Amino acid sequence: MEEVKAPLYKNLAYEGDVIRLAQNENPYGASPRVMDAIIKNIHSVSLYPDVVLTTLKEKLAKMNQVSPAEINISAGSVSLIDQLISRMVKADENIVIPQVTFVAYKLCADIHFKECRIALMDHYHIDLDAILKLCDAKTKLIFLSNPNNPTGTILSHQQIIDFLAKVPRETYVILDEAYTEYVERADFPDYKQILKQYANVIILRSFSKVFGLAGLRIGYAIAQQAVIQDLETNRIPFTITTLSNFAALEAVDDQEHVAFSVKNNAIGREILLTGLRKLGYNVLPSESNFVFIYFETTQERDALHDRLFANKIIVRKMEAFGDARSLRISVGKVEENAKIIECLSVPQSN
Ligand SMILES: Cc1ncc(COP(=O)(O)O)c(C=O)c1O
Repeated sequence: MEEVKAPLYKNLAYEGDVIRLAQNENPYGASPRVMDAIIKNIHSVSLYPDVVLTTLKEKLAKMNQVSPAEINISAGSVSLIDQLISRMVKADENIVIPQVTFVAYKLCADIHFKECRIALMDHYHIDLDAILKLCDAKTKLIFLSNPNNPTGTILSHQQIIDFLAKVPRETYVILDEAYTEYVERADFPDYKQILKQYANVIILRSFSKVFGLAGLRIGYAIAQQAVIQDLETNRIPFTITTLSNFAALEAVDDQEHVAFSVKNNAIGREILLTGLRKLGYNVLPSESNFVFIYFETTQERDALHDRLFANKIIVRKMEAFGDARSLRISVGKVEENAKIIECLSVPQSN
């Protein structure tokens, strides 16, 4: 019989020698130890995955200094966002989010026909008072990406504590910390202290960023036991694949790769921030693995996007994230960031 070849997944925008800086991935990839673990365990793809994920939960609990009963593992944090919205928000209840933030909150709210209220920003910073003003007795979830994707700014521990004191206990505050490893500021919220005090807080974490496992879809939530128990009881079985489990187990153990990625991100972020500012661009401070540039007009934004695109550098316009006059550039390898500054430093002929 003639062999049938499966079509390869193709993303045309990313073919060839392009520099892809549009999705906040780890430019150095997963750790070599993770690759070895995947290859070593490749035979396991014919077996159903472990449903309870005890070992990974124990490792994550240890890494985060909480108990395994306070951890719920999911097929990427987006699937947790989806589960939280579909499971917790009733038909007549609502969700509140900041205007310029991670696209999945509104997307999942729309998928589940849940009302999503949008709070205006304060000069591209999350405005917690504006969020509170939109809340009412029917507000079930508030999503705060911290650092915020795409602006890269953070809300401090004190800001979160003051905010939580004003939020009713029936409203859950989701602190999405997908980029937590990249944060340098010492006043970043202390999730352990917050979780001890607040049963209505859920922390989200991801293996897609610093661990470099975006393609394997794995993330987790940390919260008080009762919240985790509900998530555990109501999750779809087998969504975390066997290879994702092996990869995550090894990734947690390879903290050297995490440190290497964080260190190079800090160097690259500085190259971008300093270089872009010198060239006259408005760039927000960043505590993450991307930088955010804002413009007076959409046309100016498009001009920068197209100039980078012409140099095979792919960055992201922010319409889907709530703003038509900004651009997000993921921090690449050190030399890729230097290339951006280099190519923008060349005078343009009109
Ligand atoms: C704030 C935030 N949360 C979650 C995610 C998605 O994480 P995952 O790949 O674990 O679904 C992203 C991805 O860009 C993100 O920016």
